[in-house]
Amino acid sequence: MSAIEEVKSRLDIVEVIGERVPLKKAGRSYKGLCPFHQERTPSFFVFPESQHYHCFGCGAGGDVFTFVMQLERLEFPEALQLLARRAGVMLRPPTPQEQEADRTRRRLLEIHREAARFFQEQLQSPAGATVRAYLEQRGVRAETVRTFGLGYAPDRWEALFSHLRERGYGETELRMAGLVVEREGGAGSYDRFRHRLIFPIRDLQGNTVGFGGRALDETQQPKYLNSPQTPIFDKGSLLYGLDQAASAIRHEGRAVLVEGYFDVLMAHQEGYKNVVAPMGTSLTVAQVRLLKRMTRRLYLALDADAAGRLSARRDLEVIREAMDERLVPVPTAQGLVRFERELDGEVRIVVLPAGRDPDEVILANRAEWERCLEQALPVIDFVLEQIAQEADLETARGKREAVQQALPFLAELHDPVEQAHYIQRLAHLLEVDERAVSAELRRARARTTPARPAGPEEDVEAFPLLPGMRREEVVEGYFLALLYRFPALWEALPAGIDSLLSQEEHRVLLGMLPAGPSDLESELRRYLEDLLARFQGQGASPPLPLDEDTARRAFQDCLQRLKALANERQRREYTEVLAQAQEEGNQELAQEVFRQLSILSQHRWEIAMPPPRRIFPDARRYLSDEGGPATGRARGESR
Ligand code: UTP
Ligand code: MN
Repeated sequence: MSAIEEVKSRLDIVEVIGERVPLKKAGRSYKGLCPFHQERTPSFFVFPESQHYHCFGCGAGGDVFTFVMQLERLEFPEALQLLARRAGVMLRPPTPQEQEADRTRRRLLEIHREAARFFQEQLQSPAGATVRAYLEQRGVRAETVRTFGLGYAPDRWEALFSHLRERGYGETELRMAGLVVEREGGAGSYDRFRHRLIFPIRDLQGNTVGFGGRALDETQQPKYLNSPQTPIFDKGSLLYGLDQAASAIRHEGRAVLVEGYFDVLMAHQEGYKNVVAPMGTSLTVAQVRLLKRMTRRLYLALDADAAGRLSARRDLEVIREAMDERLVPVPTAQGLVRFERELDGEVRIVVLPAGRDPDEVILANRAEWERCLEQALPVIDFVLEQIAQEADLETARGKREAVQQALPFLAELHDPVEQAHYIQRLAHLLEVDERAVSAELRRARARTTPARPAGPEEDVEAFPLLPGMRREEVVEGYFLALLYRFPALWEALPAGIDSLLSQEEHRVLLGMLPAGPSDLESELRRYLEDLLARFQGQGASPPLPLDEDTARRAFQDCLQRLKALANERQRREYTEVLAQAQEEGNQELAQEVFRQLSILSQHRWEIAMPPPRRIFPDARRYLSDEGGPATGRARGESR
C-alpha cells in the first residue's frame, strides 16, 4: 500500500476535522459551523461513511486531504506530510534530486527576502524621495507601503546586484532568481529592475517570490516589468494581494478581482480587504483553484468599456464555444477568461464607470464603489442584458438573432427553476413570448444532445471491489491509470472532471499528469506506480486495455461510471442532510439542500439516459403506446 492510502486508512475524517471544528452528531453524519465561511447555523457536514465533508453554505468539500489543504492553506505534499505525521506513517525520504530542488527553492526565497528588504530601504533613503512623493500623490499611506512591502529599485545598473553579492549570493543563482540579467556577450550581469516602484509579489504563505516594478516616467517601457518565470515564481498561479486577502475572502464569503497592483493597494487601504488581482494576464485555472479554496463567490470589477466589449459578437462566439466545453467563461478587460464549470459558484460582474480604475473610484468616492459592488450582476444576467441592449427590437429578425445568441447561455443552466427564470427574463427583455424562447431552447438541445453510452448500472461488476476500497476509488484509480497509459486520451477529457473525483490525491494527479510524471512529487509517483501495477499484467481486474480503440471505449465507460458514482454518493448524503434539516426546522438549509438535490436528480436522469436508438426504433414503444409525445419522437428519430 502506498503511503497516501495508508495515511487515509489510518485516519478518520471525523476525528481530524473534529479537532479543528466542533462537530455534533446528526443522524449518520456530523455537522458543525463551517470553518471556511462565516455562519450562525451549521451547514457544514461530515460523512463518516464516504469520509467526505461538504458545506451547503459555501460549497467547500472534499476528503481529509482537501480539508487540511483548505484550512491550513497547504499544497498536497505538505498536507500529506502533516497527516502522515499524525497517522504515524513514514514517508519515503526525499530523493537527492528532490533535496536539491528543495535547497534551491529555500535559497531563492532567501534571496527574495533580502532583495525586498533592499528595495524597501531604498524607498526610505534620499534616493527614494521622489517615489515617496509619487505614492503620496496617489493617496498611498505609509502604513500601506509597509503592509505591502513597497520599495524602490534605484536608477543604477548594479545596485541590487552588488548588494546581494556582498551578502554572498552568486551570480548564477541571482540570474536564476530573475533579479539580474546577463549582459550581452555573457560578461557579467546587471539589475533587471532599475528606477522602478517595486511591488513584492507574495505567495499564499506570505513569502516574496517575485516582483512587479512600475515605471516612474512616461518614457520607461514597459509600464510594468514583472519577474520572469523562475522555480519559485509562476505568474499564472499567484494572485497579487492574496496573502493579505485570504482571511477576509473567507469571512466575507467573496473575492473581488481587480486588474492592477494599485487597485489592490487602495482597496485594502480603504478597508476592502477581499480584493486581489492577476498580474497582467487573464485569470487562469490555477488562480481560480486558489480562490476556490476560500470562496465560491467571485466578483470581477471591469470598467464600463471593458464590460461593454463583452457584447461584441466575436466575444460571444468565444463564450459559446467555451460553454460547449462545459466551462463557464468570465470576461476580463484583457479578453476572455475561462472558468471551470465545476466551480459551480456565483460569478458577478462589477461594472465601474467608464475609464476609471477601482483605485480611483475607491479613493474618490467609497459609496460609489460600494454601490458598484451592490449592483453587480451574475454573469448570466449581465450577458442577457447586454444581448438585449444590442438587439434590434424593432424587427422580428433582430429579436430572433438575440434569442439565438442567448440560447447557449440558457442551455448551460442546469437548475430547472433557474432556467425558467432566465427564459422569462429574456422574453421580457426582448418583448417576445416566453413559450417561443422555450421552444427554441428545446430545439437547440435536440440538435446538440450527444449520443450517450449505456447507463452504468448494467455491469458494475466490471470493477470488482478491492479490499478496503470503495468502488469509486477503484474506478478513479483505473481512470488515471488509463490516462497515464494512453496519453492520447487527454484530448478527450472534458473540463470539470475534478469534481467527479472523490479523492484529493486523484485530483492532484489529474492536474499534474499532463506535465509528465517526472514532475510528480515522490509519494504521488509511488501512488501512481501502484495504480499501474494494480491494473496491468496478469490477473489484474479489470486489466488495462492493450490498444487505443479499446482504451477509448473504456475511457468513456469510466467517465460515465464516475458521473454516476459521484451522483449516487452525493444524493445519498444530501438526502440524509435534508432529512436532518427538516427535522430541526432549519428551513434555509433544507431549501438549499433541496435545490442541490434537484440538480443532482436532473443530472442523474441525464447520465442514466439510454442512448437514442438511431437505427432501430424501440419496438416496445409502438406496442405499449405509452404517452403520445414519446412515441412521436421515437418515430421522428427513426430514419
Ligand atoms: P494598468 O496599465 O491598468 O495599470 O495595468 P494600473 O495597475 O492601473 O497602474 P496605474 O494605476 O496606471 O499606476 C493593469 C495591470 O496589468 C499589469 C500589471 O499587473 C498592472 O497592475 N501590467 C500592465 C503588466 O504586467 N505590464 C504592463 O506593461 C502593464
Ligand atoms: Mn490604475
